[in-house]
Amino acid sequence: MNAEASWDLFDSAAYVDHNYRFLRSDDARILHLVRDHFSDYFRSFREKSGGPVPGTGAPAPGTGGPVHGIDVGAGANLYPALSMLPWCDTITLFERSAANIAYLEGQRPHYDAHWDEFWDVLRGRDAYRELAEDDDPRVVFRKTVEVAQGDLFSLDRFRGRWSLGTMFFVAESMSTSHREFETGVERFLRALAPGAPFAAAFMEGSQGYKVGERFFPACSVTGTEIRAALAPYAEEDVTVTPIGMPGGALRPGYEGMIVACGRRNSVR
Ligand SMILES: C[S@@+](CC[C@H](N)C(=O)[O-])C[C@H]1O[C@@H](n2cnc3c(N)ncnc32)[C@H](O)[C@@H]1O
Repeated sequence: MNAEASWDLFDSAAYVDHNYRFLRSDDARILHLVRDHFSDYFRSFREKSGGPVPGTGAPAPGTGGPVHGIDVGAGANLYPALSMLPWCDTITLFERSAANIAYLEGQRPHYDAHWDEFWDVLRGRDAYRELAEDDDPRVVFRKTVEVAQGDLFSLDRFRGRWSLGTMFFVAESMSTSHREFETGVERFLRALAPGAPFAAAFMEGSQGYKVGERFFPACSVTGTEIRAALAPYAEEDVTVTPIGMPGGALRPGYEGMIVACGRRNSVR
């Protein structure tokens, strides 16, 4: 079960070295999809409302105020937060592990140079390019990001609080329990306001994973199970895209990556 793993001993440096020191082609593909999903959402929002893009004073999706983003189980990965940056007044990096909280706090003032390769993919769309023309993304990141330690199961207390959300490699990579996987997806989606766009990434068929010298649990899920877990709280147009392993396997014991892009529905 999730509570039994040693999350505080997660080796953030080893995790970054193995996963994110260089941009892999699977992450690049995910970045493209998420970047386009958020860009298209906010462009059509602006066209429909006739007003400025949320984050610059217009009503936020579903909440009628500023845009608050959340990355659930942020761990030692900044690219989900970077993908939300152009539209957010705040981004909460929500994470359980003390080690990952220390990593995120350390990155907030001036994130490491290797994340620039990830930002470069995002710059393929106007909103990111325009942000970088007006400002330094590192400064915007520092001003926008808040790091919060917490357990995603406790997000039930904050239903509908956030207006944009990401959750990457968390619900299926925190426990061997399918019940906890489904609850993780549910807690994430219910933390979002009706209409909020979201992106979630998953490892397909994961048997668990090593970070440094420590083994962490996972539950083996398929695209069909991911879609079923999302369905109660997402609009029907949610897309679930298999990424596979375009650049070869990241590690043993999984079958590929999957990314889901959608919008929160109004089911409470
Ligand atoms: C495989 S890592 C994914 C990290 C990052 N999102 C990424 O894309 O690489 C799983 C993350 O979930 C976090 N986590 C595990 N259980 C959690 C819980 N109950 N609440 C919040 N975060 C949790 C872990 O500490 C870890 O950072």
